[in-house]
Amino acid sequence: MKIALGADHGGFGLKNKIKEHLLQKGYEIMDCGTDSDQSADYPEFGFKVGKAVTSNQVDVGIVICGTGIGISIAANKVKGIRAALCTDSYMAKMAREHNNANILALGARVVGPGLALDIVDTFLAVSFSGWRHTRRVDQISEFEKSC
Ligand code: RB5
Repeated sequence: MKIALGADHGGFGLKNKIKEHLLQKGYEIMDCGTDSDQSADYPEFGFKVGKAVTSNQVDVGIVICGTGIGISIAANKVKGIRAALCTDSYMAKMAREHNNANILALGARVVGPGLALDIVDTFLAVSFSGWRHTRRVDQISEFEKSC
């Protein structure tokens, strides 16, 4: 599985921890930046990761900023993206099972690194369950096409 990572300065440190963790587990990583803890605007990285997912360059994405809010809003502006901001592993499980999320968003100033890695592992381990959830996710896609 190939995973795109993107973060602003607030998420830079956690992005590196997640990158190291995933590389150790054998995942392929596309690092969309930022590359330092110097101030960087989160929209650019949310858009880059979103585009990497919708162009099928990667299977899923992980985006990180201070709260996870700004970068998830940005990623969700890319057509076809369902970015889910998760603060615990249950949310990560549901984001995949029920919402078929294709991007996980994290707040580096909200969750500690241990919890963040558990959220990441959960998100990557769980698949969409389909059934009635397909209809609901399709309704969002149809609405998006009409916008
Ligand atoms: C940057 O200070 C901060 O605003 C950003 O990382 C993020 O939390 C925005 O939603």
